[in-house]
Amino acid sequence: MIFRQLFEPISSTFTYLIGCEQSGKAVLIDPVLPAWERDLAEIRGLGLDLAFTVDTHIHADHITSARKLKQEAGSRIAHPAIDGLACVDHPLEEGKPLVVDSIQIEPIFTPGHTDGHHAYRLGDRVLTGDALLIDGCGRTDFQNGDAKALYHSIRSKLFMLSDDTLVYPAHDYKQRRVSSIAQEKARNPRLGGDRSLEDFVRLMGELDLDYPKFIDYAVPGNRECGVCPPDVPEKLEQYCDQIGDSLQG
Ligand SMILES: [Fe+2]
Repeated sequence: MIFRQLFEPISSTFTYLIGCEQSGKAVLIDPVLPAWERDLAEIRGLGLDLAFTVDTHIHADHITSARKLKQEAGSRIAHPAIDGLACVDHPLEEGKPLVVDSIQIEPIFTPGHTDGHHAYRLGDRVLTGDALLIDGCGRTDFQNGDAKALYHSIRSKLFMLSDDTLVYPAHDYKQRRVSSIAQEKARNPRLGGDRSLEDFVRLMGELDLDYPKFIDYAVPGNRECGVCPPDVPEKLEQYCDQIGDSLQG
């Protein structure tokens, strides 16, 4: 399996490129609109063709490039079925892996950050989206978020994976890239150790986070699989423009 972690600096999002060596097919998980050209160049540079884009949830901090990549590269759009988006080609649900030749992507229903969020397991690694982050977790105060649900998604589902499973989140704001289930179980300051449900719910309720600055544009845009709304204010246009040279790894 070919595996690359790409970074989109405007929203600090990780996009994951998965490739099948035998068939030359590729899948992008959580691709971001300003990076679509960079991501497609990366795929083509590896001699691969993009078969699917997959999103973990309806994002509030960036717009997916799923629709754009479908137009440009002919990829199909996979997304959790529970979100009921009309633009989706391949609805995903737990128990029904997305198989692309040698690539097997297993959806894990992990509500709490949003009510439709899914993580994706690929063998010895899990892409945790905005449910479990390195030393953290996604916020639960918008998009039908629910701290109690997130606690169960992480502790009863993700923490039940093998300790050696590598954890690849959808974001990191401190330049960390990968963790493991054992590490998060032991050390995650929000959800690790013996953190109780009651403590976690109280902690999430007391976070007092800023209103997400792009949410009013991102959510409607992502409900259409990646349309940049026409009324985006000038100061937020970078969320729709193409990035130039950017960090990646
Ligand atoms: Fe999110």
